[in-house]
Amino acid sequence: MKIDILTLFPSMLDGFLVESMVGRARETGILDLKIHNIRDWAKDKHQVTDDRPFGGGAGMVMKPEPLFEAIEELRSPVSKTVFLTPDGEPLSPTLAEEISREEHLILLSGHYEGVDQRVRDELVDREISIGDYVLTNGTLAAAVLVDCFSRFIPGFLGEEKSLTHESFTGNLLDFPQYTRPANFRGLSVPEILLSGNHKQIEKWRHERRMDLTERRRPDLFSKFNESHR
Ligand code: ADE
Repeated sequence: MKIDILTLFPSMLDGFLVESMVGRARETGILDLKIHNIRDWAKDKHQVTDDRPFGGGAGMVMKPEPLFEAIEELRSPVSKTVFLTPDGEPLSPTLAEEISREEHLILLSGHYEGVDQRVRDELVDREISIGDYVLTNGTLAAAVLVDCFSRFIPGFLGEEKSLTHESFTGNLLDFPQYTRPANFRGLSVPEILLSGNHKQIEKWRHERRMDLTERRRPDLFSKFNESHR
């Protein structure tokens, strides 16, 4: 999958590009991920990318010209342009899975008080929020989005890992995990996990998922109950 991230702060993503699973996916070619500085498309002497809002008010707005130039240069007929913004549709596993099937994404990270509305109206296909809180800019939100949907791209997680048991599958949070040593500072691992009885282990894990979800995420637990009626 081809991904172009447009940001005013490319170095915020230096580590993201090379570390861990995303770094490996770039090496193996599963992800063709590039970061671009929006300033490179600002043609004036001072490479200005923002200006005061028409109508007055505090803060600055990102100018349309560099964003039109950048997106028109990067896009092709198969591209989808996504704007990261707190007023976008909320990111969910379902949305991430849908996005993971795109061929080419252009991710636009906003800054300041916002982006000229003409960019959103004319160039953006989809607006996504990573949660109900406001970040100082959308660069980290773009990284979160890439990290989240990449896990749905075939081959990204490698053969050993799967998406079948993790938080949110089946509207439940994940069960607790333990590893060696079985006893650490007097803290022992639940006996059932050492029993070798896989059926009982499955049952115990499912119960833990239900307990935790009911306590921590009653909203999710209601969905779980509805789908099991
Ligand atoms: N930019 C600032 N806050 C954001 C959020 N919550 N989601 C996506 N982009 C953002």
